[in-house]
Amino acid sequence: MHPDDVVDSLDGRRALAEGPVHARARDSFFADRRDPGARLRVCRGTSCWLAGHRSESPLVPPDRAIQCAGYCDRSPVALQPDGSVKRMGSPAPLDPLPEIRSLARRAIVTERIARGDHHEFARAREAGVWRTLERALHGEPASVLQALEASGERGRGGAGFPTGAKWRHAARSPGAEKYVIANGDEGDPGSFIDRVLLESDPHAVLEGLALCAFAIGARHGIVYVRSEYPRAAERVERAIADARGAGLLGPSVSGSDFALDVRVARGEGSYVCGEETALIAALEGRRGEVRARPPYPTSQGLFGMPTVVNNVVSLATVPVILARGATFYRDYGVGKSRGTLPVQLAGNLRRGGLVEVAFGPSLRELLYDFGGGSASGRPLRAVQVGGPLGAYLPESQFDTPLDYEALAGIGALLGHGGVVAFDDAVDMARMARFAMRFCAHESCGKCTPCRIGSTRGAELIDRIMLGQERERNLRTLVDLCETMQHGSLCGLGGMTPFPVRSALEHFPEDFGAPRAH
Ligand SMILES: Cc1cc2nc3c(=O)[nH]c(=O)nc-3n(C[C@H](O)[C@H](O)[C@H](O)COP(=O)(O)O)c2cc1C
Ligand code: SF4
Repeated sequence: MHPDDVVDSLDGRRALAEGPVHARARDSFFADRRDPGARLRVCRGTSCWLAGHRSESPLVPPDRAIQCAGYCDRSPVALQPDGSVKRMGSPAPLDPLPEIRSLARRAIVTERIARGDHHEFARAREAGVWRTLERALHGEPASVLQALEASGERGRGGAGFPTGAKWRHAARSPGAEKYVIANGDEGDPGSFIDRVLLESDPHAVLEGLALCAFAIGARHGIVYVRSEYPRAAERVERAIADARGAGLLGPSVSGSDFALDVRVARGEGSYVCGEETALIAALEGRRGEVRARPPYPTSQGLFGMPTVVNNVVSLATVPVILARGATFYRDYGVGKSRGTLPVQLAGNLRRGGLVEVAFGPSLRELLYDFGGGSASGRPLRAVQVGGPLGAYLPESQFDTPLDYEALAGIGALLGHGGVVAFDDAVDMARMARFAMRFCAHESCGKCTPCRIGSTRGAELIDRIMLGQERERNLRTLVDLCETMQHGSLCGLGGMTPFPVRSALEHFPEDFGAPRAH
């Protein structure tokens, strides 16, 4: 469903987005509106770019490229007009399911999909999906909230905010309507777990969304799926129709007085629309611009009403937490990082794919024991954790445990759990420029440090790479990073300095500094 139609059907308040000025503003903002044609599009995500696409080259015009197709474990790939994805140079479409392994005692998020695709209603039902909701409906919403709070689950969309606290706030906030949004925008190149869940376990995501709606008192749910995942959107739409047909969604969920209407909204080719306030703006039919918080969406979200925005993984985990208990979930992990994380391994690795881990193993274990070391046979030189805004970590930091606090301690972030590996042939100055260009391409334009700074940053790195006034340009680049980090309104401009500064700090020789012996 198109965001405009969501505006229509959810609220009827089209005034928010009416008129030719709004239409022009929207049309110029979203990549898909600028170029709506269906055609083969090559992926220029980090992993595909590394694998030799060089899709930023003039040989691939911008309207023929997408930022990430969500098959980073099998790069380089292209999205075909029929929604399937193929590896470059190979005619056969790729299997949507990656290789799935688990290092946790028992997988939580990937347990079902490790046994195969469960998008068919009958198979999902047989595997126990929807049963937790049916049981929860016999109890009180308060018990769902309590279990979530006790579990210590933190959102997997990037910020790691406690899910129970978010739901509690939305439940307490007054509003004529309330909304739950499953955030399936997954723009981070190097990440693909949301795609896999939406395509192969959509009923689990819907059940988690329904449990949230029950807990906070919402009657409307939206699954926001990026347009680069057309098959995911179709499968969720079908799952909704099947669940409605079985009475698990609709005016009387499972015969109770709980009503829930869920629909799919497709993104339109904008990375920043993964940020919750930009996503809400897009759903309201406006440009996908970020707004300052507070107020948080839990008190003033979609159409000004209390809204929970949760990542797809966060929601798919909820039925497991409720079915097996908060203590079961808390038992996994370390410190304040409880539960498991589906790590997405990509880049220059022998074996990419999904590895679900309880928080705590080191990057080294993941890269070598699970990833099998570099695919090229050359030494691994760096790894980027947490998407395009994550720091580049050198080999000396590979022993860092994979948890929120340990990564924050070295100036890095866990993000959505994507891990992209680079061998020693990669020029880290080019990677720093890649980060700045990504930011420039995706900036919503609301604030100057990000809108202008990212373009100037890429130019500065160009000049440094050419050896032009190296020292002066390096100083300006460091200053610029400082301004972007502290002066940007959201994480896009605020965190782009992470990859740039880490490249400068750990790989100065790539910026023309004398090599250390
Ligand atoms: C630039 C930017 C892009 C983001 N993209 C996503 C995204 O694609 N998916 C996602 O779940 N969260 C994304 N987020 C985080 C969301 O704003 C929000 O925190 C998240 O959806 C909340 O869900 P969670 O609590 O389950 O993590 C992004 C944030 C920023 C700053
Ligand atoms: S940092 Fe960039 S993306 Fe975020 S609000 Fe500012 S201009 Fe928009």
